[in-house]
Amino acid sequence: MTALTSSPAWQNLENLATKIKTQHMRDWFAADPQRAENFTQAACGIELDFSKNIITDEVMQALQTLATECQVSEKSQAMFAGEIINHSEKRAVLHTALRNFSGKPVLVDGEDVMPEVLACQQKIQDFVSSVHSGQRKGYTGKPLKQIIAIGIGGSFLGPKIMSEALKPYGFEGVKVHYVANVDGCHIQDVLASVDHQETLVVMSSKSFTTQETLQNTLTAKAWFLAAGGTQHDIAKHFIAVSSNIKAATEFGMAENNIFPLWDWVGGRYSLWSAIGLPIALTIGYDNYRELLQGAFEMDEHFQNAPIEQNLPMILALLGVWYVNFFGAQSHVLLPYYHYLRGLPAYVQQLDMESNGKRIAGSNTQVDYATGPIIWGSEGTNGQHSFHQLIHQGTVLVPADFMLPLKVPNQDDKHHAMLASNCFGQTQALMQGKTFEECKADLASKGLDNATLESLATHKTMPGNKPSNTLLFNQVDPKTLGALVAMYEHKVFVQGSIWGVNSFDQWGVELGKELGNQVLDKLFNTEANLNFDASTNQLISKFRRANE
Ligand code: F6P
Repeated sequence: MTALTSSPAWQNLENLATKIKTQHMRDWFAADPQRAENFTQAACGIELDFSKNIITDEVMQALQTLATECQVSEKSQAMFAGEIINHSEKRAVLHTALRNFSGKPVLVDGEDVMPEVLACQQKIQDFVSSVHSGQRKGYTGKPLKQIIAIGIGGSFLGPKIMSEALKPYGFEGVKVHYVANVDGCHIQDVLASVDHQETLVVMSSKSFTTQETLQNTLTAKAWFLAAGGTQHDIAKHFIAVSSNIKAATEFGMAENNIFPLWDWVGGRYSLWSAIGLPIALTIGYDNYRELLQGAFEMDEHFQNAPIEQNLPMILALLGVWYVNFFGAQSHVLLPYYHYLRGLPAYVQQLDMESNGKRIAGSNTQVDYATGPIIWGSEGTNGQHSFHQLIHQGTVLVPADFMLPLKVPNQDDKHHAMLASNCFGQTQALMQGKTFEECKADLASKGLDNATLESLATHKTMPGNKPSNTLLFNQVDPKTLGALVAMYEHKVFVQGSIWGVNSFDQWGVELGKELGNQVLDKLFNTEANLNFDASTNQLISKFRRANE
């Protein structure tokens, strides 16, 4: 047994889980009118009702003890202080410095990184204002109205999903198109829809080595040149965001057209850096700053609020409770707000790339489950498809429901229906429907007893299915910033408890490496195939089809 699973806090939680599995949330609600109030906390424009979870005060206290024993708060202090906590890559983890409005320095290797961060923010602000004012023009003198943002993973999901979520705050004069996949269909479709004279390409790649991003940018460049632009005009239409300035200039980017980021910003935590430039182009710099401000306020809350009131801590501990003591293998995110529909995909990368690990601190293999599968989509759509499994299937899927209480420019009827479905689903998951209740419902239908019993059996819903409900006054830039930072810290807390390095991603790196080796064999059709028999066979078939 590892130190974690043999710790008194863990053992205590195991005992509590065994006891609690014989109880039902429905009975707790019936017995305690204060339950909802007692298990609700709010901060930074987010109200979290976690009363519909399989928890008691005793469980929450035991989970908090686990966090204390795992030194979550000490680990978080080390992160904010710029210590090298990403050990396998020997890096500090400081996305929080990118939204640090405290006025205090943040030291990496004894040097304050804030002057560089602030200079980059100024550069973003100036750039956005020059595009929005029409002062920055393309090579034929037309203002830049079409932005093609090319990137993948963290260099894509954050900007795309935040821009989508903040559509009501969009700046009218520009349209941003996001391209990630190397599948040529996407970039070709986007290029076909814009005029090259008014197009700005923002290439975002922290490493500047990502195959998909490099290729999509080369395709855009070839399109630009074929449409009439010259090599000289490229500087007016192509900019880059990267920590690899050398590779970006070698690629042909003008040095003053490169926005920097630093190796202490992880890809999936990079939306707060210049990787967020397309967000600022979409919603304007002031709104973009509000997004950062919201994240900063969540950072302050995370560092200062006591565990029992701390939103990221509560979410993380509930997650650990279900993953490690109830065998939950996934967690579903259900935003009831169309513009927030991308959030599950964002948190999916954030969480799964961070905590999809099996080696804990001292190079030992874990003997407990770590990061769950994160999935989800916008409500109410899921109610008419996959919710069935959450209600009556055999696996436990804890859920986060989300709803803005107000939405700009929307018909009240639609919004009330949306809200009613959101609340109704959490209620159904919690209380379920007993066999007796189903039988009573069917009693007036004139069925014979055997049919009635059989139907009631199928209709019975066990309930006791856990969910959190996150309410926002509205999804404005500040609240969205706080929401994303809340999930970042949730992931951090879980990684700290599980003892994994939440900031490397060697699994996906291997995929990149092998993909490039295979690509060589696809281009070089005469080259000997020396992979496994299946891969060789697949390559041969592709070669034959493309002869
Ligand atoms: O493929 C994994 C990954 O490294 C992510 O972590 C990252 O967000 C993405 O690729 C893009 O990387 P880059 O910004 O270096 O192109």
